[in-house]
Amino acid sequence: MIGATGELGRQVAGSLIGRDGVTVRAFVRRPPPDGEGSFPDVLVGDLRDRASLERACSGVTSMFLVSSPTRDQVELETNAIEAAERAAVERIVKVSNIPVAGLESGLHGNHRAIERRLDESECATTVLQPSFFASVVDKQREQVARGRLVLPTGPGKIAWIDPFDIAAVAAAALVRSDVNGPLHLTGPEALDGDEVAARLGVRRVDPPLDRWREAVVAAGLDPWLADSTVHLYEAVARGALAGTTDTVERVLGRSPRRVFVG
Ligand SMILES: NC(=O)c1ccc[n+]([C@@H]2O[C@H](COP(=O)([O-])OP(=O)(O)OC[C@H]3O[C@@H](n4cnc5c(N)ncnc54)[C@H](OP(=O)(O)O)[C@@H]3O)[C@@H](O)[C@H]2O)c1
Repeated sequence: MIGATGELGRQVAGSLIGRDGVTVRAFVRRPPPDGEGSFPDVLVGDLRDRASLERACSGVTSMFLVSSPTRDQVELETNAIEAAERAAVERIVKVSNIPVAGLESGLHGNHRAIERRLDESECATTVLQPSFFASVVDKQREQVARGRLVLPTGPGKIAWIDPFDIAAVAAAALVRSDVNGPLHLTGPEALDGDEVAARLGVRRVDPPLDRWREAVVAAGLDPWLADSTVHLYEAVARGALAGTTDTVERVLGRSPRRVFVG
């Protein structure tokens, strides 16, 4: 599992560890502190270090592939795909995002380039294309505690998804051969920023995108990611992520979780 320490990776591992016939190998940059993480098999490496990826792929049947949204994501994930191919890994399950017309560069361009690379691969692949994670709101925990939520997405609705459901679909794809992609994953309903804020019982703030970009870059966000996010938020405002799908239900046999409730 690449990205085993991340939000999705931890949940995918949690749902697979202990299943009959499944051994989870976690590929991590830093070994977990004693007593934490409890991965049965840990390999310390880096997506930049091809030799560590080769060691990680030895004897592996399925690879879970998620990494951070960075400028060099294509290069890093291609290293993992090449290592999987050399080790004859049977299936790669990659976390991507929902294609949006007009977003061909930046973060979206990177995911599309990795998907094209996977299309050429001899490994079977399952590409997961999730909508916005409902957990992105947790990153504003302090603001929410002060009664406000910043969502510069205008009137656009988003079919927010609980990361638990993405992880459950990923786990299914890793152990089943009938979960093929691309899988457009959403939650059960689309909510705009006002509706999310109302469910959380806070006031929604919808600043102009140029002011939002200035603030997040000043707070340390990579300008490249800030620009990608601005373009995405513009598309969201036009309704690009408002559609829901029944994919989670088709794969898991249950409805996706409702978000921002209880
Ligand atoms: N958030 C959303 O709403 C959303 C929606 C759709 C798609 N996505 C996609 O979901 C993916 C995950 O995003 P996230 O920010 O939520 O990720 P995350 O939870 O921070 O997980 C990223 C994982 O990748 C690992 N990683 C990063 N660089 C690595 C490297 N060089 N070598 C080895 N491991 C490395 C991290 O390890 P460390 O613990 O060592 O850092 C971490 O385990 C992104 O590709 C994003 O585009 C997100």
